[in-house]
Amino acid sequence: MIRFRKDGTSSKRAAALACLLWAGATWAQGYPAKPITLVVPFAAGGPTDVVARILAGSMTRTLGQTVVVENKVGAGGTIAAAYTARATPDGYTFLIHHNGMATAPALYRKLSYRPLADFEYVSQVIDVPMTLVGRKDMPARDFRELMAYVKANGDKTNLAHAGLGAVSHLCGALLRQAMGASMTTVPYQGTGPAMNALLAGQVDLLCDQTTSTTPYIKAGSVKLYGVTTSTRLKTLPDTPTLAEQGLNGFHLVVWHGIYAPKGTPREAIDKFGAALRAALKDPAVAQRLAELGAVIPSDDKLTPAGLQSWLQEETKRYEPVIKAAGQFAD
Ligand code: MLT
Repeated sequence: MIRFRKDGTSSKRAAALACLLWAGATWAQGYPAKPITLVVPFAAGGPTDVVARILAGSMTRTLGQTVVVENKVGAGGTIAAAYTARATPDGYTFLIHHNGMATAPALYRKLSYRPLADFEYVSQVIDVPMTLVGRKDMPARDFRELMAYVKANGDKTNLAHAGLGAVSHLCGALLRQAMGASMTTVPYQGTGPAMNALLAGQVDLLCDQTTSTTPYIKAGSVKLYGVTTSTRLKTLPDTPTLAEQGLNGFHLVVWHGIYAPKGTPREAIDKFGAALRAALKDPAVAQRLAELGAVIPSDDKLTPAGLQSWLQEETKRYEPVIKAAGQFAD
């Protein structure tokens, strides 16, 4: 029998509420009680994977539980985002993703998740410039020679990328448009395997983030044609920007964010976010990221609100551009 108390709540309901509050309190105290999965939407060895693994090491020490990097590849990052949107919102699944979170709604007309509605926002992570690199034996010695080479060879020139929705694809599309040249594009499940194809001489060009290309550039195993930022990079001071070399106004920087399934408890978001911020302030992590050309955003961006407002802004910015280009992935 259900008895009603003077304040209107039934004794059963009050007991259930007390149980829930108690469970919530002990859950929060005990979180995390098991390993946490950080989903990466692209293949191992690529820039998103590199950053996730650098951060996971430091975050594991802070959280006292392993942060396990899991690569869920395919469809330009949308498979991983859909997987995260449907995951149990218990604080044990997070997603690291880049600009692809903002471009997907316009690129994919049949997207099974809503980037602006189906996630909790944790924080922005890092901003990373891109580089245009070529196989070591490309005949073009600099960007001007490359433009002439691409114009003369057209579709015989191969440009590798990580699928529609990947920033390597976006960069390639902007480049082809700015150069007024066509090229054959070759998709991979991430720029990790795309870079392997470039190193093996199977493709000619790749536009990829410095977090992936820097070691190969420093080792001289690829030819570097330019950086995608409007000013030169501290890490590659002698490399001209693409804008300096004739592509006026060319500017592309990759931003990253961390998301959780909608309904993930606030305590989990806060703890995971605090561990992320601690990782970015860890001198060894900060130095490694800086060596790879990555820039840590200001503190106001390293918050749930900082990511949410940026994603809203970027989604609005990309939508008309993609729709005008009429290029859809599905
Ligand atoms: C990767 O991690 O492989 C890249 O971020 C893919 C991309 O170009 O977007």
